[in-house]
Amino acid sequence: MAESIASIRELRARLSPLRRQGKSIGFVPTMGALHAGHRRLLETARRETDVVVASIFVNPLQFDRKEDLDRYPRTLESDLAFCGAAGVDLVFAPPVSEMYPQEMLTSVEVHKLTETLCGPRRPGHFRGVATVVLKLLEIVQPDRAYFGEKDAQQLAVIRRMLEDLSLPVAIVPVETVREPDGLAMSSRNLLLSPAQRRIAPMLYRALLLARERVEGGERSAGKILAAIEPRFAENPEVRLEYFEIVDPRNLARVDVIESPVLIAGALWIGTIRLIDNLGANPGARPGSLTEAKGLRL
Ligand code: PAJ
Repeated sequence: MAESIASIRELRARLSPLRRQGKSIGFVPTMGALHAGHRRLLETARRETDVVVASIFVNPLQFDRKEDLDRYPRTLESDLAFCGAAGVDLVFAPPVSEMYPQEMLTSVEVHKLTETLCGPRRPGHFRGVATVVLKLLEIVQPDRAYFGEKDAQQLAVIRRMLEDLSLPVAIVPVETVREPDGLAMSSRNLLLSPAQRRIAPMLYRALLLARERVEGGERSAGKILAAIEPRFAENPEVRLEYFEIVDPRNLARVDVIESPVLIAGALWIGTIRLIDNLGANPGARPGSLTEAKGLRL
């Protein structure tokens, strides 16, 4: 069982002597309901830093639908055991009243990168993410912070925020962990019915098909998308929110594929929203299914 701390003041008091002793601090922010994707972040932090801090906080600022916030899985007891097994030293698990004791009048807005993909579909979401992540980084003051490539746009937004604001934290991206059938691990997968769970890997399969086409030499993003999108229309329980090919540097839509791209999609299955993405490199060997290398978000 990892030790959990609910107060900002107490966490700071615990971390500052460790920092003075020259220990490096690794930080993994999460919203709990921990799974093997989170575990990979925690294990990477454990390998790379002396003191590992995880946070578990379901951040109301970043939920654009009340229903999603209300039913977000909350499993603190088992999460603390999970963190203990992953070698986490301290878990910061504040109540909402500790993080937001009064109305928040301050927020962080990262422009442009939040105007594509999930941004326009989840108004205020990335503002809520950027604000809480900046606040958490201020509280923990880690040397390194770990984020999953599964949330590629979130990773890009946080990186840019830290660059723009000159925060001295190294952001470490961690590869997406998948179920055996390819479905990206996500706390929201717990909410899928068995029938929904069976169709959920279709997003990943579509990403693989799109990547095969990019790596097979197709240069027209429009042609690739036109071939892929109809696959989602076959199931009445499924609604494709977007499926796009973007430039990994600025997340802007690409028409002609000439350099590594990010293929990203969001899918509704019933009332559950799933996202996923893959890098693809037009310079890769035709037909190769190996992950595009050199693509850094
Ligand atoms: P959450 O969804 O709990 O994810 C916490 C971290 O785990 C994020 O960096 C996310 O990208 C990573 N992650 C989730 N699923 C993953 C998977 N299958 N493989 C690899 N990494 C995965 O993302 C958030 O929480 C919040 O927005 C947060 C950053 C904590 C701010 O509230």
